Amino acid sequence: LTATPSAAPQEHTAIETIVILTGAGISAESGLGTFRDKNGLWTRYDLNEVATPEGFARNPALVHDFYNARRANARAAHPNAAHEALARLQRHWPGKVRIVTQNVDDLHERAGSSDVLHMHGALEGALCAACGHRWPAPAAMHPATPCPTCHARQARPDIVWFGEYPHHMETVWDLLRSADLFVAIGSSGTVYPAAAFAQDAARAGAHCLELNTEASAVAPDFHEIRLGPATQLAPLWVDEVLDRRGC
Ligand code: NAD
Ligand code: APR
Repeated sequence: LTATPSAAPQEHTAIETIVILTGAGISAESGLGTFRDKNGLWTRYDLNEVATPEGFARNPALVHDFYNARRANARAAHPNAAHEALARLQRHWPGKVRIVTQNVDDLHERAGSSDVLHMHGALEGALCAACGHRWPAPAAMHPATPCPTCHARQARPDIVWFGEYPHHMETVWDLLRSADLFVAIGSSGTVYPAAAFAQDAARAGAHCLELNTEASAVAPDFHEIRLGPATQLAPLWVDEVLDRRGC
């Protein structure tokens, strides 16, 4: 574990609102693959085939197979100590700790977190491309899966693909403007707009902390970087914040 504070960590008692961005790295130790690490998903799949609207139009069965496998993996996985630490922080600080995730798994919710904002959608969601209806995804979806509302056979995973616009952005930008502390955990900082969140938060006066096994592509945007696995760094950081609050 190495801590490389470029600026003294802000006095935590001055913190009222915390915004936490999580990426695939927080779920890595739950056994869910990341995208750009060694053997990451995008080294094994062409994202243009499985994570773009064009790829879905070309071959919906291939895309459903890709997300059916990721849904099965996510259902078989368990929240890890990092997910649980964030849920603990939310319990001690109701309404003041917001989680914005790029992840499509539900490990934050299964660890007990609430109000999680899924920018890129969720594996447990199904979306009808014909009428926009959303419903809980079945274990496995296929091109012939009918929409429960309009009965069209244009069901897709409720995932935000490359080139599509992420969910909840107005809420997220409001949160970043009011945050006293912004923490990014397990995000490579290679996909926008999430990669710019540290800049946005710092501009609004927040202290920015990055927890990652290696410095992200936007590490210079953070005041403080701690390197190590999320399951070790996140619980330590939550203990530190709660101790300073006398919790
Ligand atoms: P982007 O610019 O946000 O992300 C592109 C990133 O994907 C690049 O930075 C690169 O790291 C990576 N990338 C591109 N081609 C790749 C390849 N062949 N192999 C591996 N990595 C590759 O992409 P965008 O199209 O501008 O995205 C716009 C919106 O789509 C964003 O708002 C984002 O939220 C959303 N999005 C969703 C997903 C998803 O899978 N759910 C993925 C990326 C982006
Ligand atoms: N603990 C902490 N960080 C970790 C760990 C770990 N155990 N393992 C990996 N990481 C870090 C890596 O160093 C990397 O910075 O997690 C990050 C994973 O990066 P990506 O694979 O790019 O995942 P992410 O940043 O979430 O990707 C953003 O790109 O393809 C899209 O929609 C997809 O939401 C995803 C987005």
